[in-house]
Amino acid sequence: MADVAHQIAERIPINLVINGVRRTLDLMPWTTLLDALRDHLELTGTKKGCDHGQCGACTVLVDGRRVNSCLTLAVMKDGAEITTVEGLAKDGALHPLQQAFIDQDAFQCGYCTPGQICSAAGLLAEGHAKDADDIRELMSGNLCRCGAYPNIVAAIQQAMGRP
Ligand code: FES
Ligand code: FES
Repeated sequence: MADVAHQIAERIPINLVINGVRRTLDLMPWTTLLDALRDHLELTGTKKGCDHGQCGACTVLVDGRRVNSCLTLAVMKDGAEITTVEGLAKDGALHPLQQAFIDQDAFQCGYCTPGQICSAAGLLAEGHAKDADDIRELMSGNLCRCGAYPNIVAAIQQAMGRP
């Protein structure tokens, strides 16, 4: 059945602005944004953890809002602006969250870190987090198997300017 679907389905042309650069892609309709980034654009900073919307490793910003890219079909985001972890640094300077994760030693294996940082960037833009409890709640979709949570919260507090 899957083979039949592959034979009759047609690729769909879409445009995405990825980290400020317009890219045109021809994708199968079932291609996720995560696979488009990793497999078609070689932007492998965004990680595939569960591929089921449960870990947050694949978090990117779509038009400024954080989303799980593994649950997002790329063709549904035609014309969108996508920011991945590769697009956060500006003019050779790390994003304040990237610097804070280093300063606070907020990772061990680092596999969850791109998703944590992109999610935290979305959290800062949302402006709802006022303290550590808020951060823990609003970052609860981003799991860390290494258990670096205290340091991750500290890093986000540093980037918020609220030690
Ligand atoms: S890989 Fe997307 S939420 Fe886990
Ligand atoms: S640093 Fe290893 S999973 Fe978070």
